[in-house]
Amino acid sequence: MDTFDLIVIGGGPGGYLCAERAAQAGLGVCLFEEKKLGGACLNEGCIPTKALLNSAKLYRHAIESEKFGVTAERVTYDHAQAVARKDKTVKTLVRGVEATLKGLNVQIVEAAAKITGRQGEHFAVEAAGGAYLAKKLCVASGSETVIPPIPGLKEALDGGFAVTNREVLDLKTLPKTLAVIGGGVIGLEMAFYFSSVGVQVSVVEMLDKLAGNTDADISRALRAECEKRGMAVYLSSRVLEVAKNALIFTDASGERRELPCDLILLSAGRRARTEGLGLETLGVETDRGAVITDKYLCTNAASVYAVGDCNGKSMLAHTAYREAEVAVHHMLGAKDEMRYAHIPAVIYTDPEAASAGLTLEAAMEQSFRAKAVQVPMRFSGRYLAEVEGGSGFCKLILDEAANRLLGVHLYGPYASEMILAAELMLDTELPPERLKKLVFPHPTVGEVIREGLFQL
Ligand code: NAI
Repeated sequence: MDTFDLIVIGGGPGGYLCAERAAQAGLGVCLFEEKKLGGACLNEGCIPTKALLNSAKLYRHAIESEKFGVTAERVTYDHAQAVARKDKTVKTLVRGVEATLKGLNVQIVEAAAKITGRQGEHFAVEAAGGAYLAKKLCVASGSETVIPPIPGLKEALDGGFAVTNREVLDLKTLPKTLAVIGGGVIGLEMAFYFSSVGVQVSVVEMLDKLAGNTDADISRALRAECEKRGMAVYLSSRVLEVAKNALIFTDASGERRELPCDLILLSAGRRARTEGLGLETLGVETDRGAVITDKYLCTNAASVYAVGDCNGKSMLAHTAYREAEVAVHHMLGAKDEMRYAHIPAVIYTDPEAASAGLTLEAAMEQSFRAKAVQVPMRFSGRYLAEVEGGSGFCKLILDEAANRLLGVHLYGPYASEMILAAELMLDTELPPERLKKLVFPHPTVGEVIREGLFQL
């Protein structure tokens, strides 16, 4: 029986970084992964979608750049080639993770792990017939697609008429028409991809806005952009049934609609994946499947940690990274804690949307004396130089009582790269007067944040 200092269950961003950091600190680590190292982020989420979205962006630029003096003829899009490049990128990164872990002597077990309980001072885990013991345990089992109880959906998923974020990335050919259930992050990114490469896309969303809790103006701008590109967006709509070659739903006015389509993408949310892990053998508490953790990523069971999507706190790879570090610091007795307040969120549409901190609506709900200023990105020289007729903007939310920023919301090019600066502004809680003294590089789109600060 192999004995370790730490067993990590799951090899996604939370799990592999936890294993990496613990091994760097000298702990003997064993990591279990039943599918592929890299988890959803590397294999079926963040990375592959960014590869495909970049192919689509290049294609769109090639056919839509006449105003910029660029005319291209006979431009074609080869989806299979884009998928092949995406696969190559994923393989490179997965191999990188494997090499890093092996280089640190992390034992990798490619099998499903099941916790069987305690043996003296150790936790016991079984996998592929082997038994493993460790003094500490970190659960990083990720999340899974929510499959709503829509009649016909399960059969459609089994038959290939409906797909999730996983299968949609490996389609051999493009459908002519795509119906997307759920206008959240996955739904929007994929809607933009398929629409950009010529697929007729419809998005059916149950709420009265796209992109859930995102800033209301960003949500409206995303809807306008979808419609400008010829997508059909149905808000406040309820999916009734997946029929043969069609999605049936009631629209906002209560009218029953039948949407014929070649393919359905299910993107109605994800939930923590903890079933069958054996957490109950240790008495680990969960809430609707998500492991309950504190700011040190500790569970109620001593020496048992849970990082990443499985604790249901934020479901973002970058949150998982930081949680993994905090958990390892706690294992080592180093002072550290997780702060969730300013974690940036990005939607890789085109234009991009990025936010950190509170929206105005959330700030009001939390009884802050909140004020918002919104500045169009056309105040930035670089934006004007690069974008024709864009509607990008930056919105800053100020806590007037404490004189500090509560939130930053960006809609436009480079938003995903600029949001880190915003996070720093929020995290340091520096007053706007101090932030105004920062020198922003010119010309950059980021100067719009500076414009916003001067309008607060
Ligand atoms: P989501 O929670 O972002 O969006 C799901 C949407 O589906 C919601 O707007 C919800 O109202 C809607 N919905 C639910 N049931 C429905 C129904 N029966 N009919 C119509 N609409 C319905 O979840 P999504 O897009 O599946 O993404 C899952 C997770 O992956 C998220 O937690 C997200 O944070 C993460 N992710 C992050 C990305 C990023 O950081 N760029 C990219 C993709 C995913």
